[in-house]
Amino acid sequence: MVNYAVPEPYRWDTSFMVFYERLDDEHKGLFQSLFSIGTNRDSKAALKKCQDLMVGHFNYEQTIMSRANYAGFKEHKEHHDGFIAHLGKLSAPVTDEEIFFCKNWLVQHIKNIDFAYRGKL
Ligand SMILES: [Fe+2]
Ligand SMILES: [Fe+2]
Repeated sequence: MVNYAVPEPYRWDTSFMVFYERLDDEHKGLFQSLFSIGTNRDSKAALKKCQDLMVGHFNYEQTIMSRANYAGFKEHKEHHDGFIAHLGKLSAPVTDEEIFFCKNWLVQHIKNIDFAYRGKL
């Protein structure tokens, strides 16, 4: 796996495009919600919103992968499940290390794992 740069300031850009409009829009929202945890690290609401958006996005992504009989579905879902379990253990205030872990996870996941379904869904 390639290790991609984490944008600073943390925001989605066109290098993250998967070329499915709803998925790209959801990815933008995930970047925003992680950015917002970084700037409101005491906020339980910001953390909860991020957890809910991740779950919602992963569910939608899995639905369309499964509908397309995408070959990488099972392994892809395992990556999602692992990250949700990790996020579920966090509590506010979230540490710098944790915020960076999550920001980096999303960057690497989109470019190494989500990119593999481009053109196949
Ligand atoms: Fe994914
Ligand atoms: Fe995704």
